[in-house]
Amino acid sequence: MMLILLGPPGVGKGTQGARLADTAGWVRLGTGDLLREARRDGTELGKKAQAYMDQGKLVPDELILALVRRKLDELGPDAEIILDGFPRTVVQAEGLDALLVESGRSVDGVLVLEAPEEVLVKRISGRRSCPECQALYNVYFDAPATEGICDACGASLLHRKDDQPGTVKNRLEVYREQTEPLIRHYEDHSAKVLQVDGDRPMDEVWTGTRVALREAFGVEV
Ligand code: AP5
Repeated sequence: MMLILLGPPGVGKGTQGARLADTAGWVRLGTGDLLREARRDGTELGKKAQAYMDQGKLVPDELILALVRRKLDELGPDAEIILDGFPRTVVQAEGLDALLVESGRSVDGVLVLEAPEEVLVKRISGRRSCPECQALYNVYFDAPATEGICDACGASLLHRKDDQPGTVKNRLEVYREQTEPLIRHYEDHSAKVLQVDGDRPMDEVWTGTRVALREAFGVEV
């Protein structure tokens, strides 16, 4: 399986992607997480990505494609993969196709999550994430047992710098202009595009995701 998770910031791609990875054993490859890891490690990629991310802009395609190529090579041709936050531009989608052709693969499906903008803004403002184990929380919808501390590993939780209101506005605009057109791109390229309503409690979105995957691919997760 090569499944793309597509949708605006805060819609729940990371939440549903982590659940899919836990349940189905597929590997979640989240470019946002990989970039944040590169920043924490102080790598060249992390330094180059920092200014783009802090302003809510996309990191240049060539950096992202090099990163994804390296990860796909590490995982090998048989890995079942969920791509979370990639591709985000038509150039990235075409670059992905070219990478996959090399290993005789293609994108199996695109799962699109959507929710109204005010819901996205509230989710993002309440998000807290664990820098150690990547667990996600939300002060409004899914708070940790002890404020500011990860239930899973005890690390201090972070409020992402790009989750400030001004940056969120930019990220939403960038999504509508550069990433949303990919839905049409994949429909035109005969990939299975599955629309799931993300404006529901997490468990209901999860049920919608499972039903969509069962109906499209016959897989039970
Ligand atoms: P990235 O980290 O990919 O961020 P994003 O796409 O903006 O998405 P988010 O992580 O904000 O949201 P999500 O949909 O995963 O929601 P989540 O599950 O966390 O990218 C960050 C930056 O990196 C980009 O701006 C760009 O600069 C750069 N970048 C990354 N990839 C790139 C690429 N391919 N090309 C170029 N640049 C790239 O949920 C949000 C919150 O809501 C959480 O608190 C969660 O607990 C809660 N929640 C989730 N679902 C529900 C629900 N159903 N009900 C209530 N609460 C919910």
